[in-house]
Amino acid sequence: MCGIVGYVGPKEALPVLINGLKRLEYRGYDSSGVAILTDHHVEVRKSVGRLSVLEGQLKKGAPEGHTGIGHTRWATHGRPSDINAHPHSDCSGRFAVVHNGIVENFRGLKEWLVSEGHIFKSETDTEVIPHLIEQYYSGDLVDAVRQAASRLRGSYALVVASSEEPEHIIAVRKDSPLVIGLGEGENFVASDVPAILEHTRRVYILEDGEVADITAETADVFDLKGEVKKKKAFIVKWDPVQAERGGYEHFMRKEIHEQPKAFRDTLTGRVAPDRKSVKLDELTMTPEKIKGLKKVFITAAGTAYHAGLVGKYLFEKLARLPAEVDLASEYRYRDPILDAKENLVIVVSQSGETADTLAAMRESRARGVHALAITNVVGSSVSREADDVIYTWAGPEIAVASTKAYTTQILVLTLLAVHFGQIRGTLDAAKAQKVLSELVELPQKAQELLSHEESIAEFARKCAAWKDVFFIGRGLDYAVSLEGQLKLKEISYIHAEAYAAGELKHGTLALVVEGVPVIALSTQRDLREKMISNIREVKARDAYVLGIATEGSGADEMKHHSDKVIAIPETDGLVAPALAVIPLQLLAYHAAVARGCDVDKPRNLAKSVTVE
Ligand code: G6P
Repeated sequence: MCGIVGYVGPKEALPVLINGLKRLEYRGYDSSGVAILTDHHVEVRKSVGRLSVLEGQLKKGAPEGHTGIGHTRWATHGRPSDINAHPHSDCSGRFAVVHNGIVENFRGLKEWLVSEGHIFKSETDTEVIPHLIEQYYSGDLVDAVRQAASRLRGSYALVVASSEEPEHIIAVRKDSPLVIGLGEGENFVASDVPAILEHTRRVYILEDGEVADITAETADVFDLKGEVKKKKAFIVKWDPVQAERGGYEHFMRKEIHEQPKAFRDTLTGRVAPDRKSVKLDELTMTPEKIKGLKKVFITAAGTAYHAGLVGKYLFEKLARLPAEVDLASEYRYRDPILDAKENLVIVVSQSGETADTLAAMRESRARGVHALAITNVVGSSVSREADDVIYTWAGPEIAVASTKAYTTQILVLTLLAVHFGQIRGTLDAAKAQKVLSELVELPQKAQELLSHEESIAEFARKCAAWKDVFFIGRGLDYAVSLEGQLKLKEISYIHAEAYAAGELKHGTLALVVEGVPVIALSTQRDLREKMISNIREVKARDAYVLGIATEGSGADEMKHHSDKVIAIPETDGLVAPALAVIPLQLLAYHAAVARGCDVDKPRNLAKSVTVE
């Protein structure tokens, strides 16, 4: 899940590459590098550390040239170091390669190349690629790249530049995203659109097995056999400033605050004006198919998996449809019992590129099961391969910790559950209208909740010294607790665990002693009394309890049993998760800031996980 940028055109390549890489640092940030073609020579500069370290070095002497490639790395094979940073080169230094993905058969290839006399410098799998190109090159770079790519097993997006043929760069993709940006007299290539949005909105989305030959004037695409592929340009609608921080000190805080707008965008046109029905025009599944469903599998990773857990409750409650939620990395290898006619698989993925999620979807489709994708990225691999796609219109999410993507995924899952419930006749009109009305009011309620940020921030600053935190909840609150603890862990590095509230006493209660913080969620009216009993269990051990409850009687009662209460606006329990998570996002964010953590780029993590 590294970031790649390439440029061919009249401008100085280096600033274009560096600016592009800045927008891709969320994909990996343990080292970075560039290769610039200068006077029939490849100048490589690379360094371990953040992109700023490389920039600092380039100030001492920057290579000049109009063609170049760049990379920001998230290490898989070989630790982060100067030598292991990309671009990688062949023995002669004529070919430079940047790569995202994993070359699974690199050991065998390396042995063979060494026996042919090649000398390797790094510990990476990537380095076999420039040596393979060197091995195959006989005056035609496209041909050499094609031959090299056909020897690789695994996933890759790679871009090659060579001093032998400085007028073009070559890009190839298999299972890792690449887009070609089409400019006027200049062309670009990148792992993701934010890297090129300031230059162009016209892109080709490269498909698996496609090779692009990119000059300043042309971008020709072929398959691995050399057959020409006709591509249709796709116009990116995102505003370039949308992909920027816009005055906020961190993307994460900006994205938390964008939730009211993201909710509105995701719901627009999807709830009938009378709030009685759902309109999902993009859905191709027939009512007969929906009526005939016996089970839905929801599969995803990380935060998207937590959204899936919310989806399970909703499908069961509203559509009376049994739902199983699986981590994609488990689902893909556990040989799930699937029925092509009666099952549906829903894959949830912000990026639409997560390797495990994509593989889980492919596995299901190979067995004839209809796949419905919920994703945020138009043109992503998941969106292109699914039978049905429903987009969360959350806009670009840059911070590694997911916020608005999660809440909009929940909104889409709610719309789907209501829609399915109505078609299956399991949901009465009044309940459907109630849920849909509450959904429509969510943006304004989220806005109201966000206006209390400062009091949550003040509290969070006190929490910065916490060491271990427990989250408890029941039903939908348990699903939200899981997301709350993940947020806290991933950005503030405070250890946190979430438990179904009834489960705590089966072991973990042993860790609850005086002063241990417990965050208790109680937004579900029918489970309130049970939750209060569980809160009393931890209070009896002198825990410090922060209660999250719904305004009114819920919050009033919570005040009697906890040390501090954060109230969320009154809403139906079924739509409460999208609100209840907001204080948890803010708590994690402000605690992380108080601890001096790198909020948008937490250690060891990356935004887009395109390896297993
Ligand atoms: C990474 C990100 C998480 C994300 C997960 C799944 O771990 O850091 O924020 O939830 O991948 O990503 P996806 O794009 O499939 O939702």
